[in-house]
Amino acid sequence: MESAFPTAARLSLHFLLYSSLLLNALFVAHLFLSAPPAQSPLLSEVNNDGGSGALSWALRAARDAESVAAVGCSGHGRVFVDGIVGEDGRPGCECNTCFEGPDCSVRTPDCTADADSGDPMFLEPYWMRHAEASAVVLSGWHRMSYRTTDGLFQSVELERCIRRLHRAVGNAVADDKQIVFASGSSQLINALVYALSPASNSGSTASVVATTPYYPAYRTQIVLFDSREYKWGGNTSKWANASGNSTTTEDIIEFVTSPNNPDAVLHQPVVGGSSAILDHAYFWPHFTHIPAPSDEDVMLFTTSKLSGHASSRFGWALIRNEKVAKRVNDYMIQNTMGASRDTQLRMLAIFNAIVANLHGKEDIFAFGHDVMTAKWRKLSAVVSRSRRISLQNIPPQYCTYFDKIREPSPAYAWVKCEREEDGDCSDVLLKAKIITRSGVWNDASSRYTRISLIKSQDDFDMLLERITEFVDAEHSVAGSNSI
Ligand SMILES: Cc1ncc(COP(=O)(O)O)c(C=O)c1O
Repeated sequence: MESAFPTAARLSLHFLLYSSLLLNALFVAHLFLSAPPAQSPLLSEVNNDGGSGALSWALRAARDAESVAAVGCSGHGRVFVDGIVGEDGRPGCECNTCFEGPDCSVRTPDCTADADSGDPMFLEPYWMRHAEASAVVLSGWHRMSYRTTDGLFQSVELERCIRRLHRAVGNAVADDKQIVFASGSSQLINALVYALSPASNSGSTASVVATTPYYPAYRTQIVLFDSREYKWGGNTSKWANASGNSTTTEDIIEFVTSPNNPDAVLHQPVVGGSSAILDHAYFWPHFTHIPAPSDEDVMLFTTSKLSGHASSRFGWALIRNEKVAKRVNDYMIQNTMGASRDTQLRMLAIFNAIVANLHGKEDIFAFGHDVMTAKWRKLSAVVSRSRRISLQNIPPQYCTYFDKIREPSPAYAWVKCEREEDGDCSDVLLKAKIITRSGVWNDASSRYTRISLIKSQDDFDMLLERITEFVDAEHSVAGSNSI
């Protein structure tokens, strides 16, 4: 059909159309040719600003970071900037357990599930989703001094951010406490015991105690650092009376892990008159309900279990008494001169990102709780079919943070082997190709063993597969016996 437009009008319309297409093509080509291939949102912001040229020395590092992050490793591994360099001159994929091959796409045949360590990899997908908010650029001259702002060893801004975080989550009263940073809360275990022990010229020795099943590092560190002022005193039962409580005039330092590693129970000190150290490594809403803010004299926290950044080695203590805080600080000065300033910078980005998303769509605790509840539900469903093993019972509880009754989402399953002949539970599960951590580590019976649920999703899927086989085998034996 013939057009109603006259020829001259058609020509000018074509001209306009082609020149607009050409301009668009030039614009797109400019964008792709002038920017690095995997451009970070931060870089694009500056470029959109009109290419202020503000970025120069950070570009190569940003490109390196984004180019390794872009490698998928089949979803079963990842590449790190500092990974082992292969023949192609680039770092290769580091695969999750039970996956192998250059791109981690091959399942290791007959693989043993590893549910041993408390490696908090379950939060890795969260940070992949929040790459921009959590990325940190470090210049070669970033805080080279021993000291930071105001001649201190601690970032003032990070301290403020931690107080904001506790206030917003409602898990601890931080405002009237001193904060001491350390290289992981592990470093604070001995620092706090030192600070709470009697002076070396007093002639007294403190006994350090914890309630079984307890986190083993309390015992192993005290034994390692065995000193005149304090010694390992064993289980609290030696000091507690039949009702479970006692008051002592001896110098007792009691570690109280709440919620507990390995069994997720919320604990209070049981030895009256003791100096209690409340280890709140897991007192965050992705692992437990928060009944009320903790307001103990000495409280311990770690980013390992809060954000999952175990590698950064960052923990902190909230301490009411100034003299005790000073002694912990003195210890830190002697020991490492404070937590790494590089780590503190990274933590500031991580904690700011956490605080900015609280109660929002991207809330880390909602994310973590969803992941951990799903794991607990699946594991419980399989184990409920077994009469050979059982799990600890955790009821749903009201949580002040979520303002609702929440499903249980413990970091660890505390498994009991029910049969008389299964006295070594970790060995029973090892024979079923599942690595767990024997209750003996926690000064408990070997009839118990701990299964870690905070590792990667791949680790959990492998664990579930093996546990399902274990329970199915129990049923097929029971079935054949009944024939
Ligand atoms: C109860 C408890 N406290 C302290 C720690 C030590 O944490 P980090 O040294 O990584 O801060 C852990 C680690 O698993 C733990 O389970």
